[in-house]
Amino acid sequence: MIESLTIQRRELVQGLVQTPARISPKYFYDAKGSALFEAITGLQAYYPTRTEQSILAANAPEIARAVGVNRTVIELGAGNCQKAKVLCESIHPACFLAVDISEEFLHEAVATMRLSFPNMEIQAIAADLTADIVLPVNLPTGRRLVFYPGSSIGNFDPPHALALLSRMRDLLQDDGALLIGVDLVKGEAVLNAAYDDDEGVTAAFNLNVLDHVNRLIESDFDIRQWQHRAFFNAEQSRVEMHLEATADLLVRWHGGSRAFSQGERIHTENSYKYRLEDFVELLGRAGLTHTQVWTDEQAWFAVVLARP
Ligand SMILES: C[S@@+](CC[C@H](N)C(=O)[O-])C[C@H]1O[C@@H](n2cnc3c(N)ncnc32)[C@H](O)[C@@H]1O
Repeated sequence: MIESLTIQRRELVQGLVQTPARISPKYFYDAKGSALFEAITGLQAYYPTRTEQSILAANAPEIARAVGVNRTVIELGAGNCQKAKVLCESIHPACFLAVDISEEFLHEAVATMRLSFPNMEIQAIAADLTADIVLPVNLPTGRRLVFYPGSSIGNFDPPHALALLSRMRDLLQDDGALLIGVDLVKGEAVLNAAYDDDEGVTAAFNLNVLDHVNRLIESDFDIRQWQHRAFFNAEQSRVEMHLEATADLLVRWHGGSRAFSQGERIHTENSYKYRLEDFVELLGRAGLTHTQVWTDEQAWFAVVLARP
């Protein structure tokens, strides 16, 4: 379930009045944000999507053998379902359930999946995976595969990532498995370019969050007064995205306001980059102790199958 507007408003205002101000990355994904993310995935500088897709395609038979057929696949943060499409072609699930916070985009993506797999049961729920995920009552009872690609786990700081992985472990039950994509530590220049492309698509994606927030809390952010900042923070092993005020500003919303000085930032996203051994250890702490790993030639990205 997506949280009520009241809860979203409260969360957003709490984040905006903090110093530094914050907006959760989940608010990137209105319909325009989802379309902009899809555009990012096609950029030369943005290596994660094509690298993960190439790992899934190159190892499809082995992944299929490890996963098994007739699974109930639950994809979290499904986006355009393109990776699920590659996966479903080889593992032939009994049922595919797509979960995403971006409702309109989700339903379009699922309609495309239905055209590709006319004989497969396909369901969709618009839900916030940081809240409790309530599965449809008519979901088939077969063994589950939770699919969480895109290194979206990197958007959570390690304690929250552990909490989310533990909830996924519960979701997949004792006989299920988690197939998860994770972005690995690599050279700083590659990371910085991936999150600050020359075409300005990531900047547009980051700035679009302010238009989404304007609609949710009736605020008056003017995106022309903000600029995109993205950089690798080596100490924290994460790429950070921020929006920086280009002048002294006062932003008002229904019931409140906040002054920003020129150069002050709103922190909009972290994208943690893991060393593979640290990520496997994190999975183990979530109760997912049996792992199988596939990676690309440069070891830039890993796809991990993890079981209790
Ligand atoms: C980085 S994109 C990845 C999309 C796709 N899985 C892929 O690998 O290309 C993150 C996806 O997760 C969704 N998302 C972000 N935060 C979410 C949340 N809290 N609950 C559910 N979905 C969320 C977004 O709408 C988006 O589709």
